[in-house]
Amino acid sequence: MKDEVISRDDRVANLKGMGCSRKRVEDARFTQGKGNYVDDIKLDGMLFGDFVRSPYAHARIKGINAEEALKIPGVLAVLTAEDLAPLGLHWMPTLAGDKQMVLADGKVLFQGQEVAFVVAEDRYAAADGIELVEVDYEELPVIVDPFESLKSDVVLREDLDPNADGAHGPRKHPNHIFTWEAGDKEPTEEVIANADIVAEESMYYHRTHPCPLETCGSVALMDKVNGKLTLWGTFQAPHAIRTIVSLISGIEEHNIRVISPDIGGGFGNKVGAYPGYVCSVVASIVTGRPVKWIEDRMDNLMTTAFARDYWMKGKISATKEGKITGLQCHVTADHGGFDACADPTKFPAGFMNICTGSYDIPTAYLEVDGVYTNKAPGGVSYRCSFRVTEAVYFIERMIEVLAIKLNMDSAELRRINFIKKEQFPYKAALGWEYDSGDYHTAWDKALKTVDYDGLRAEQAQRVEDFKAGKTRKLMGIGLSFFTEIVGAGPVKNCDILGLGMFDSCEIRIHPTGSAIARLGTISQGQGHATTFAQILASEIGLPADSITIEEGDTDTAPYGLGTYGSRSTPVAGAATAMAGRKIRAKAQMIAAYLLEVHDNDVEFDVDRFVVKGAPERFKTMKEIAFAAYNQAIPGLEPGLEAVSYYDPPNMTYPFGAYVCVMDIDVDTGVPEIRRFYALDDCGTRINPMIIEGQVHGGLTEALAVALGQEIAYDDMGNCKTGTLMDFFLPTAWEVPNYETDFTVTPSPHHPIGAKGVGESPHVGGVPCFSNAVQDAFRPFGNTHTNMPHDHWRIWKTANGLGLHD
Ligand code: CDP
Repeated sequence: MKDEVISRDDRVANLKGMGCSRKRVEDARFTQGKGNYVDDIKLDGMLFGDFVRSPYAHARIKGINAEEALKIPGVLAVLTAEDLAPLGLHWMPTLAGDKQMVLADGKVLFQGQEVAFVVAEDRYAAADGIELVEVDYEELPVIVDPFESLKSDVVLREDLDPNADGAHGPRKHPNHIFTWEAGDKEPTEEVIANADIVAEESMYYHRTHPCPLETCGSVALMDKVNGKLTLWGTFQAPHAIRTIVSLISGIEEHNIRVISPDIGGGFGNKVGAYPGYVCSVVASIVTGRPVKWIEDRMDNLMTTAFARDYWMKGKISATKEGKITGLQCHVTADHGGFDACADPTKFPAGFMNICTGSYDIPTAYLEVDGVYTNKAPGGVSYRCSFRVTEAVYFIERMIEVLAIKLNMDSAELRRINFIKKEQFPYKAALGWEYDSGDYHTAWDKALKTVDYDGLRAEQAQRVEDFKAGKTRKLMGIGLSFFTEIVGAGPVKNCDILGLGMFDSCEIRIHPTGSAIARLGTISQGQGHATTFAQILASEIGLPADSITIEEGDTDTAPYGLGTYGSRSTPVAGAATAMAGRKIRAKAQMIAAYLLEVHDNDVEFDVDRFVVKGAPERFKTMKEIAFAAYNQAIPGLEPGLEAVSYYDPPNMTYPFGAYVCVMDIDVDTGVPEIRRFYALDDCGTRINPMIIEGQVHGGLTEALAVALGQEIAYDDMGNCKTGTLMDFFLPTAWEVPNYETDFTVTPSPHHPIGAKGVGESPHVGGVPCFSNAVQDAFRPFGNTHTNMPHDHWRIWKTANGLGLHD
């Protein structure tokens, strides 16, 4: 069929642009074993490096003897802090403004800490070498409780001047890191003191871990002849890693090439800089050969990037009718041995100050104290934007606790306190300006779909049946309504270590009308190659199938701050649309020239420019691309390329309404999820199928965290959950059928109205699962129990409430 007679609808469909459930283009590779992950990289003469790790959580190192290890065939070198010190590389800066030992410098502060780096011909020789490195440890008292840490005489960080300020201001104790405040203290205290009703609760959001399928790793190749360092790694922010490597090594940035190849999941785990990266680079410089370092699962769980570990204490006040008047929150944040949180510089506790949630709370105050303990460093945003999961868990539990105090239905309590549609853009008491939202519509839709009133009636009957001895199963209805905050920048208030959080897209259209676009972000499974092409297809009128998307190579991609905190769509997605619009602007001039009319007399229509009022006169984008290169057009340079560096004016605020219906067997503590309904609003939807996949994944990780996943320590600082035998990863067996739904409230400041979505289901899912468990026990006097709600803890809750008598 000739192009001219294809209907407009067919032309739209042909593009597979925004709104289309285009199949993921990357899956052909992934499902056929053709992915290229860091451990797939094999270079001539490549060595393998691995760590001697501390078995103690707190110990002084009195000596390291590598003599026997060096006798193992294939072991070439054993690096210690002493070897790195002359290069100034025995310590490295953390993203949070602290510093962290690359290799133990005199002492260790957590179990699994890196003590020495064994470099060998292969990983087997390295493992044998590790066994024979003798380390003389002198055990020191261990602190795993942040409250004890703040009272203790034991100084964990002897390298820090106890009287000097930290990176975020004054420190109250040698083991204290920072105090961070938001909101108004006295007015909040006054409102709460004079309120009709005040509910108080303390809750612990336990330590957990992102545990991506692929662990962290890197391959370093120092080409001494050309002075070029190439570093492949599992980096969620390759450009930032390049800059950091340049700053700490002194190698000029143009001589460093950082490549993130395929990445098998990140969820925050791969944002930070780890000792393994530094050691693989140093080892390559020392040996002149490529050096690979790859974590095993235990290394990953025990040493790189924990998440959460927040002790939260809240007070919420309301009128007798349930109108919330004030909110106070204090957090004791356990950051482990080094403050290696991946938060923007000005937000040492991330975006915890979105803890007023989706509610119109006039007065609020938040205070967070960061504390050192003998646990692994990190503090990453496991599938959430900088501590938003903690914030949403806090407020969604506080709402439930307040509802109990008011003897009120918590769905109704939420409804009467939601920020109203007409209040947007809404300035929250703790500083954020929410861009857009329509919470009432989403909530009503969710409650209607699940027949909320019917569920409550069924639950009441179940309680009667339980009391009458007719059943041993209780029924819980978990509710949550969340507001996320995603898309960091803007640069003016969001940076990491001084690197401003914008993002970028560069497009090159080829003469035959296909294109390549490169971005500053990096997919870890989110399907960027599929969806960014869809944005471009709609913006520039070339089929998504004709557009290649490339990310992750700093030699070719424009500078950007990477992918985490669901920032790709809000920031790089916006850059993509803006770069596409630059292409379109030039294409308009070319089309006008070809059609011999004024620029303003042509308009864009799906895949072409048409003469206004004469739709039969047009030039397709394919024709325009060819002309851009091959026709001399007066006043225009040849070619069709554009680049956009996008600094967002604000973040985007996706939201959602979730309902979980759960049966709980009080005798076994086993929860059975009968129904999970998730309504998400991420503004304009680029690919509904991918959004659904993101929601399924996020909910599954939420289920894990709420119902069992934990990084736990004993009193000696031994990590008790360092293998997948102890660390809960849900499988198809535990995961329910999720029902997904949506509303669409576009972001007013994003060029295509899109908000992020990848993390929303995790943020909203954790409180929803937890609330379901807690709600089942509410009729029997339960107010709050801490996660994770594994079978044993649920059984104990039932037992504590006297349900086993
Ligand atoms: O930064 P990250 O890629 O982790 O998160 P995201 O920006 O929320 O995007 C996750 C995936 O969902 C990407 O493939 C997006 O293009 C897609 N998405 C979408 O189709 N529509 C939206 N409004 C938001 C995200």
